[in-house]
Amino acid sequence: MKEIFEKIAMKFGTPTYVYFEEILEKRALMVKQVFENLNFLPTVAVKANNNPYLLKILKDMGFGADILGEGEFLACKFAGITPEKIVWNGNGKSKKQREFFLSKGIKYVNVDSKEEFELLWKEKEGFELFLRVNPDIDPKTHPYISTGLKKHKFGMSFSQAEEILEKYGRKISGFHIHIGSQINDISPFKEALEKVTLLAKKYNVRSINIGGGWGIRYKDESELNVDELKKTMVPILKNYEFVINEIGRFIFAPSGVLLTKVLLVKRTEEKTFVVVESGMNHLIRPALYGAFHEIEVLDPKNPVVKLDVVGPLCESGDFLAENINLPLPEVDDLVIIKNAGAYGFSMANNYNGTTKPAEVLVKKDGAIKLIRKRQSINELFDSCILD
Ligand SMILES: Cc1ncc(COP(=O)(O)O)c(C=O)c1O
Repeated sequence: MKEIFEKIAMKFGTPTYVYFEEILEKRALMVKQVFENLNFLPTVAVKANNNPYLLKILKDMGFGADILGEGEFLACKFAGITPEKIVWNGNGKSKKQREFFLSKGIKYVNVDSKEEFELLWKEKEGFELFLRVNPDIDPKTHPYISTGLKKHKFGMSFSQAEEILEKYGRKISGFHIHIGSQINDISPFKEALEKVTLLAKKYNVRSINIGGGWGIRYKDESELNVDELKKTMVPILKNYEFVINEIGRFIFAPSGVLLTKVLLVKRTEEKTFVVVESGMNHLIRPALYGAFHEIEVLDPKNPVVKLDVVGPLCESGDFLAENINLPLPEVDDLVIIKNAGAYGFSMANNYNGTTKPAEVLVKKDGAIKLIRKRQSINELFDSCILD
């Protein structure tokens, strides 16, 4: 493994996101097998990773896509994902976007609120509407990625959904639920599905989109048990004629790492800081949620010490890991940040005038393929007007 990363660093430079085709396909198959006996459309949450080459691999396995904005639609287009397999999500959709997606033939839309329904969908034909209901279930995940409680901005209450079903003549195809991300326990999924199924039975709604949120193992937690999930969810899902899901993290996160290099090892009176090329510009999850990503020094030469791995940016929050035990790296050593395939590159930014990493795929036969060039600094100012 070490040799592959060294080769990539030599050929394409660092920092670089590195993905593994074999893992990506394995994870995608794990998702599909849960639903194998149902009339089912698996979709991939493009927000987790929008690289068209990776999306095409999933498309070839039968996946459609869950998108939010026009850029994510473009990624799908490049990947060859056809509009009848695309679901449009979001809690703030515009009329302009509606006309755009309508002209592209996007098939499904998850309606986030009663207000959105009244503004955009009451009289508009052309999409299959799924009402996103908020089941008021605590998924016990990080508050920033928890979405299914009453206090959250997502979804409508059951009574608002009932009002739409009773008051307007517009056909509703199904319900949508997405209660959060990185959920490792089955019970919140079950509870949410049971709740919405009662409503679906009352109104004879025969399709459901159960969202995503499947959790992985970043640290000590155990990954969501998909066999148990299958046993628990499929008997309830059999109540429906058609099922959609929208999975991002579970497929992508373990399929990719961020390969970066040590710039400096700095000691203060309190701490040892390993400064690497990437910080919250390339992987924002630790800074944003205090998320944990395991880090590995590829060629360890020194004993293990307690240290922080930080980025080079002008923020104290610019860290990748705090107080971890790691063999003390040296300048120019390569390190990998694991489980970075989801919400890594897609959340990368240009803070401090930095550029986004390259993306490389290690194919099943071991071949190495560049799937996104490193961003150049010229691109940063493409849209600036100087006179
Ligand atoms: C509506 C919706 N569906 C699906 C997902 C994908 O979630 P995950 O990556 O946890 O599978 C998200 C992400 O937050 C989302 O907001």
